[in-house]
Amino acid sequence: MKTQLPNGTELSLYDIAPVTPGVAADLSHIPTAVKVSGFAGEDPSPALVNADIVLISAGVARKPGMDRSDLFNINAGIVKNLVSVCADTCPKALIGIITNPVNTTVAIAADVLKKKGVYDPARLFGITTLDIIRSSTFVAEVNGVNPEDVSVPVIGGHSGITILPLLSQSGFDFDEASASAMTSRIQNAGTEVVEAKAGGGSATLSMGQAAAKFGLSLVRALNGEEGVIECTYVEGSGDRARFFAQPVLLGKNGVEKILGFGDLSAFEEKTLNAALETLRSDIKIGEEFVSQA
Ligand code: LMR
Repeated sequence: MKTQLPNGTELSLYDIAPVTPGVAADLSHIPTAVKVSGFAGEDPSPALVNADIVLISAGVARKPGMDRSDLFNINAGIVKNLVSVCADTCPKALIGIITNPVNTTVAIAADVLKKKGVYDPARLFGITTLDIIRSSTFVAEVNGVNPEDVSVPVIGGHSGITILPLLSQSGFDFDEASASAMTSRIQNAGTEVVEAKAGGGSATLSMGQAAAKFGLSLVRALNGEEGVIECTYVEGSGDRARFFAQPVLLGKNGVEKILGFGDLSAFEEKTLNAALETLRSDIKIGEEFVSQA
C-alpha cells in the first residue's frame, strides 16, 4: 500500500486485554512520523479523546459451521458499549465498523448514536472493503492479470447472499454460470478462511489490509483530497434497505455523496432482489436490540 498516515498523525490502539500497550510499542518501532499509543482496560475513552477516525474491530470471530449472525449475541453488546463511549468522547469522529455481523452492528451503532443525540449518517460506515479486495484478487486470478489492475464494485451488505460483486462492471466477460460461480466464491470467502483456520478465527491479515485501505481513504478525504471513492455500507435513501453498501464519495465530513452504481446485469438484479429481505431483517435485528435496551 503506497499511502501512509501523514506526519503528525496519532494512532491509538485499544483493547480490553492487557497486550495493547505492547502491540503499540511493537508498532512504534516502525519508522514513520506517527505517534503510536496503546490503551488497555475497561475504559476505552482515553484512546478516543480528540479522535477524528475510529475503527472498531472488537468482538469474537466465527468458528467453522458458524454464520456471521451467530456472533450477534456477544458482538452486539461490545459495539453498543464502544459506540456509546465514542458518542460521549469523540461525537464528531468518523466511525468505521468492522465487527460482525456488520449488516447488524452498523444499525446498532447508528441507533446508539441517535439515542445520544449525536448521529450523523455521513459519519458512520460499515467497512466492506474486504469484499472489494477479494473480488480484485479472485477476478484477476481467473483472468491471469495483476489484481492491482482489477476493480470490482461490491454492493449490498457484508454477509452471505447480501454481498453482491458487480462483475458486469469488472471489465471482464462473465456469462451467467461464471458470474454465479464467482459471486459465490466472493460471498463465501470469509467462510473459506474460517474453515481453513479450523477454529483459530477468521480473516485478520487480509482484513487488516482492507481496514488500512479504507481508513487511509478516510484520512485522505479528511485532509482535503478530492475524488476519494470507496464502496461502503452507509445509511442512504433507504430505497433498498436503510443501510446499503455502494460507491461513496468521501470528503472532510465523511460521506460527501452516495454515488449510483450504474446498470446491473439481469443476474445481478435477480441476486440483489433475492438478498434484500435478508439485509432488511439483519438491520431490523440491530434496531430492535437498541430500542429494547
Ligand atoms: C470476513 O469476511 O472474512 C469477515 O467478515 C470475517 C468472517 O467471519 O467471515
